[in-house]
Amino acid sequence: MAFSLASKNALVTGAGSGIGQAIALRFARAGAHVMVADVNLPAAESTVAMVHAAGGRASSLRLDVTRDADFTEALARVPEIDVLVANAGIGHVGTLLTTSIPDFERMLAVNVTGVLRTLKAWMPGMIARGRGAVVVMGSTAGLEGLVDRFSYSTSKHAVVGMMRCAALDHATSGVRVNAVCPGRVETPFVRARLAEYPDPEAARRDMSSTQAMRRMGSPEEVAEAALFLASDEASFVTGACLSVDGGWTAGMFPRA
Ligand SMILES: NC(=O)c1ccc[n+]([C@@H]2O[C@H](COP(=O)([O-])OP(=O)(O)OC[C@H]3O[C@@H](n4cnc5c(N)ncnc54)[C@H](O)[C@@H]3O)[C@@H](O)[C@H]2O)c1
Repeated sequence: MAFSLASKNALVTGAGSGIGQAIALRFARAGAHVMVADVNLPAAESTVAMVHAAGGRASSLRLDVTRDADFTEALARVPEIDVLVANAGIGHVGTLLTTSIPDFERMLAVNVTGVLRTLKAWMPGMIARGRGAVVVMGSTAGLEGLVDRFSYSTSKHAVVGMMRCAALDHATSGVRVNAVCPGRVETPFVRARLAEYPDPEAARRDMSSTQAMRRMGSPEEVAEAALFLASDEASFVTGACLSVDGGWTAGMFPRA
């Protein structure tokens, strides 16, 4: 089945890189006009150039999800959207003991309050119009605890909780809210984490082994799941976490 976003306006945060970029490209290929939002404007512009090169429609938007003023400007420029993807996020390595309060607060500001700001900016308009699809970027780390990712895993549990509550509170409004929960996906985000290990190749093998499929996913594989949730074919799906994790959360399996 070819999912279509023809004549829809979509906005994707953190779309200058990795998973967000793949979602922007896939949504444009499905017919949407995509607002490519990112704190890094040159990165957003390069995603827009990739969309245009593929014959799609997109515009760039500088948006730092931690700044209220950026949302005021963004809303003035883009008041109405049909599909919203709250994808922008950061990572952090550390346990409860090694995570400082400023590190933790930064994590919550981007990954949690940043998603909240994004939803509060565009969901009221969707609810008033009686239609819309919202996808938040969760993680396997939002469904299970993850060793040495204290602040990140905490933040993603909050994202999943926000998604479920927003879906329930607005279930009869015509607006659906869902999450994609990826396992390890090979993006600049993950490559940066790998580089922090003394033996990045060993860390790479270890990260691959947490997926039952024994490999990391690709940003494009995550984008396909986001497209389904954003499409009208998912009309009875709300409050769901769609795991795209190569079997990580399916159950116990022997680590390679
Ligand atoms: N890569 C993975 O294995 C993986 C797994 C599960 C979930 N995720 C989630 O997917 C999302 C994207 O991750 P990725 O791997 O593509 O990362 P990435 O680092 O490649 O891309 C993240 C993008 O978000 C932008 N960004 C960062 N802070 C921002 C802010 N304050 N405001 C706006 N934009 C901001 C960055 O500039 C960047 O373009 C994140 O929410 C991440 O937690 C990633």
